[in-house]
Amino acid sequence: MLKIIGTGRAIPDFIADNAFFEKIVDTTDDWIVSRTGIKTRHIMTEGGLTELAAAAAQNALDNANLEPADLDLIICSTLQGDYITPSLACCVKSKIKADCPAFDINAACAGFIYSLNVAAGLIKSQIYNNILIISAERLSKIVDYTDRSTCVLFGDGAGAAVVSKGDCLRYINIGTKEGIELLNALSGLPENCFTKKREQGFLYMNGPEIFKFATQTVLSEINEVNRRLNVKPDDIQWFLLHQANGRIIETVRKSLKQPQEKFPENYSRFGNTSAASIPMLMDEVNRDNKFKKGDLLFLSAFGGGLTMGSCVIEWDK
Ligand code: UT7
Repeated sequence: MLKIIGTGRAIPDFIADNAFFEKIVDTTDDWIVSRTGIKTRHIMTEGGLTELAAAAAQNALDNANLEPADLDLIICSTLQGDYITPSLACCVKSKIKADCPAFDINAACAGFIYSLNVAAGLIKSQIYNNILIISAERLSKIVDYTDRSTCVLFGDGAGAAVVSKGDCLRYINIGTKEGIELLNALSGLPENCFTKKREQGFLYMNGPEIFKFATQTVLSEINEVNRRLNVKPDDIQWFLLHQANGRIIETVRKSLKQPQEKFPENYSRFGNTSAASIPMLMDEVNRDNKFKKGDLLFLSAFGGGLTMGSCVIEWDK
């Protein structure tokens, strides 16, 4: 169905360390590091998400040795672009001067895997060949910086991948579970257009419940991969998990009895960047030339919806 032919990423310059949050909410570096592993996160202080997403896109196109004109489709996964309309994908298309269809997907933190699934279907149906997927998030727009239970967790960033025809997607599964009340942000538009009462659009999360959902989801997907493909954790070279919390990743790693080198991370530097976390991480490992041809990558993400998505990709670049 598809293979990954290029990866890219872009992160904003401003770095907020844990000391920054000690000044604005009742928290400590010790609490944040011991409960999450997060030390810093990058936050957008100027420009729009379009610029960040376009920079990641151009970076991925360069890595794939493609020009914007070679693209057949652009898919962006994001919680919120710069505009309600047009989509972030249309804004990026215009910015990088591509000439192709473009649309957004909102599947929260699982957005990159959802996008891969859609791209795989379109490539398999021979509708498109070169598809650019960008997962770009500006969580800082919806994070409540007076709520210590969420504001220390999230960062902004963008990751991208160019996919094309190939035979490297061994497994993919996307899904949803009940739990709208566990992780959400109201749109911020007036609830009642006549009274114009505006609800706040801040992010709410029931952390402990999402923690349970996350670990159960990732472990059950690894079992499913074993059952369907006869691929065991030992056969997988890289576990690229959604970078929500170091403790979730450690719980999974220990339960699978796998070495730390197989679980690259970026949460300690970037925090939770929602859908962007996996493609950003993939790009870091790719740029470090660590993936070897034939390596199996297990990707798994979970988030608001509740959404989940997992896949196994053979590296062939
Ligand atoms: O990307 C979408 C998916 N998201 C996730 O996967 C996130 C999953 N959940 C988590 O990562 C964790 O649940 C959190 C990091 C969000 C929270 O960690 P926790 O160990 O589950 O803590 P908790 O929510 O049970 O809170 C424990 C205590 C509470 O105080 P009391 O009630 O025990 O007195 C909180 O009020 O920690 C308190 N607390 C804080 N204390 C200092 C919560 N946030 C903070 C903070 N600093 N920033």
